[in-house]
Amino acid sequence: MAQTMSTVPTMRIPKQPECNIGTSGHVDHGKTSLVASITGVWASAHSEELKRGITIKVGYADAAFYKCSHTPPPEAYSTSPTCPVCGQETQLLRTVSFVDAPGHESLMTNMLAGAALMDGAILVIAANEPVPMPQTREHMLALQMLGMKKMVIVQNKIDRVDSEGAKKNHDAIKSFLSSTIAADAPIIPISAQHGINIDALIEALEVYIPTPQRDPAATPQMLALRSFDVNKPGAEVPSLVGGVLGGSLVRGELSVGDEIEISPGLPDERGKYASLLTKIASLGTGAGMAEKVGPGGLISLGTYLDPALTKGDLMVGSLVGRPGTLPPPRTKLSVDLQLFDQAVGSVELLKVEKVRMGESLRLNIGTAATLGSVTSVRESVAELDIRKPVVAEPGARVAISRRIAERWRLIGSGLVK
Ligand code: GTP
Ligand code: MG
Repeated sequence: MAQTMSTVPTMRIPKQPECNIGTSGHVDHGKTSLVASITGVWASAHSEELKRGITIKVGYADAAFYKCSHTPPPEAYSTSPTCPVCGQETQLLRTVSFVDAPGHESLMTNMLAGAALMDGAILVIAANEPVPMPQTREHMLALQMLGMKKMVIVQNKIDRVDSEGAKKNHDAIKSFLSSTIAADAPIIPISAQHGINIDALIEALEVYIPTPQRDPAATPQMLALRSFDVNKPGAEVPSLVGGVLGGSLVRGELSVGDEIEISPGLPDERGKYASLLTKIASLGTGAGMAEKVGPGGLISLGTYLDPALTKGDLMVGSLVGRPGTLPPPRTKLSVDLQLFDQAVGSVELLKVEKVRMGESLRLNIGTAATLGSVTSVRESVAELDIRKPVVAEPGARVAISRRIAERWRLIGSGLVK
């Protein structure tokens, strides 16, 4: 069964991406522009996104990084097999996928889903705005809470400030970072729009966001970030292809023909979820169709499922693995809470009150989002009834949000017990 590659927008890259590098930061600070200036792909091209001028869904695009041995750094670094400075052949360093998160305050669920796939993250901060803007702070806290260790800070839009403005902004960034895990992260000044200093950014990504060690023998697990029906309307039955999942392997390897289980899957008419069993029909990466894929990089996984089951992102948040190897779906969760002192995400910071019996909280685990109703709280441990089941291992990290003044605000994190 043939599968199209239309679900993986990309520049041509020579091999499967081995590392996912995410973008984060306040709305309009230039995350998608940065990804475009490196990859040549505008990763935010859905009609609603084009209309509103903001990223809504997590976007992705691939790049290959090369280095010239005849040109001094940072100019030696590029995305070209021939050196843009001296014209000689460059060496391939590695291929990566960019996971482009939305910055709008109402889209934290999508940002957190993207963050679940990031091996390292870029925090984009505009040079022409005060620091920190609300989602600069909220994304930084979210990344910190998820245990993100590898970070590069980008000071973007340097074309919009003079050198004194750039210096003041740099100092404000440094002071904001001083109380975070990114206190020692490099700060790279760029203009994404004008393509200034992109070589220095690639060098920083090479140094500060190396590809993590992978164990190919690990039991495979993929997080679904998107799901699609890739058939054109009115396509003839013999040419129809099965449902497609987009996402990333967090560990292990998958091959065409493998049996897989997708969990928690979809609800039946009575709202009861059941996992789905199928086989892998095809695997696509930014380097083309593949027989086998490993962790790192966004992949499209074709199945033999009815495409009606995967259309319109229905399967987002599911886990994919070998049958019988995934944790059981849970409708009750026991979570060890670590609440922030203050709820971030808007200009004013509000004290975070204790979790109360009966309140509704939003939980983000991996690429999944669900609502939980608190049934008991003892010291730091809350028990919750979950509306949409989650598939999570003990020790999994949960991002916890509460509805404050008409919108969901991140109030802390938790560990699944
Ligand atoms: P969200 O995904 O919606 O949070 O926005 P974003 O961070 O992806 O910002 P995006 O890349 O869409 O850019 C927002 C606006 O800033 C666009 O109008 C860009 O053209 C502009 N922009 C991005 N980078 C630069 C830059 O380096 N200089 C200038 N002057 N404008 C820039
Ligand atoms: Mg964007």
